[in-house]
Amino acid sequence: MDAAFKRNLVQAYNFDAHRRNQHDKSSWKVDEREQFLKLLLDEEKKSLLEIGAGTGQDSLYFFDRGLDTTSIDISDEMIKACKEKGLNASVMDFYHLDYSDQSFDAVYALNCLLHVPKANISSVLMEIKRVLKPNGLFYMGVYGGRDSEGVWEEDSCEPKRFFSFFSDARLRELVSSIFELVYFNVVPQEKGDLHFQSLILRNSTCE
Ligand SMILES: C[S@@+](CC[C@H](N)C(=O)[O-])C[C@H]1O[C@@H](n2cnc3c(N)ncnc32)[C@H](O)[C@@H]1O
Repeated sequence: MDAAFKRNLVQAYNFDAHRRNQHDKSSWKVDEREQFLKLLLDEEKKSLLEIGAGTGQDSLYFFDRGLDTTSIDISDEMIKACKEKGLNASVMDFYHLDYSDQSFDAVYALNCLLHVPKANISSVLMEIKRVLKPNGLFYMGVYGGRDSEGVWEEDSCEPKRFFSFFSDARLRELVSSIFELVYFNVVPQEKGDLHFQSLILRNSTCE
C-alpha cells in the first residue's frame, strides 16, 4: 500500500478510535455476526483472525463464545482498545499478514476491505486465502451497490477516507474468482444510496 494512503487511514482511525469504542453495534450487524458464529460452531471451527478489527468489539464477541481469536488493525489506537479488552491483538496491515500459510479456520472482515483500491483488492483477497486453512470460512461485510472508488468528500473523519464500492454483480464475480461463494446477502440501509453486502466465502482449495 502507498505510504501516504496508509498514513491517512491510520490518522483518521486513530482519531476516531475513542468514539467508536463507545459506540453500540446496529442490530443488523449483531445478526450478521451471530449467523457467522452459528456456522463456525456447526463446522467446529476454532481459530479466527479478525482483520481491520477496529476496537475489537466483534473479536471479543467471538472470543467470549469460545473461539481462539487474533485481531489485527493498522491503527495503533484501535489495537490499544483491543488490548484493553484482553484480546490477542497486533498492529498489522492486511496487505501483508505476518502469519504462515493455513494458520486460521476463519477470517472475519467487517467494513475494512472497502478501503482497498480496486487495483489491489485481488491481491488482498489472495493474502486472506493464503492464511486460511483448506475449507476455512471467510466473512466479508462491505457497503456497496454501485461501482466507484475515491475519497469520500463528505467524510466527517480527517483526513477524509478513501472508499471502494462494488455493485452486487461485480463483487460476486470478484470473490468467486478466488473463493467458493457460500452466501451473499444484502441489507438495505435507511440513509444514502448504498446497501450492505454480506458474504460468506470458503477456501475450497484442497490440501
Ligand atoms: C470502518 S472500521 C471497521 C472496524 C471494525 N471492523 C468494525 O466493524 O467496527 C475499518 C477498520 O479497518 C482498518 N484498516 C483499514 N485498512 C487496513 C489495513 N490495510 N490493514 C489493517 N487494518 C486496516 C482501520 O484502521 C479501521 O479500524
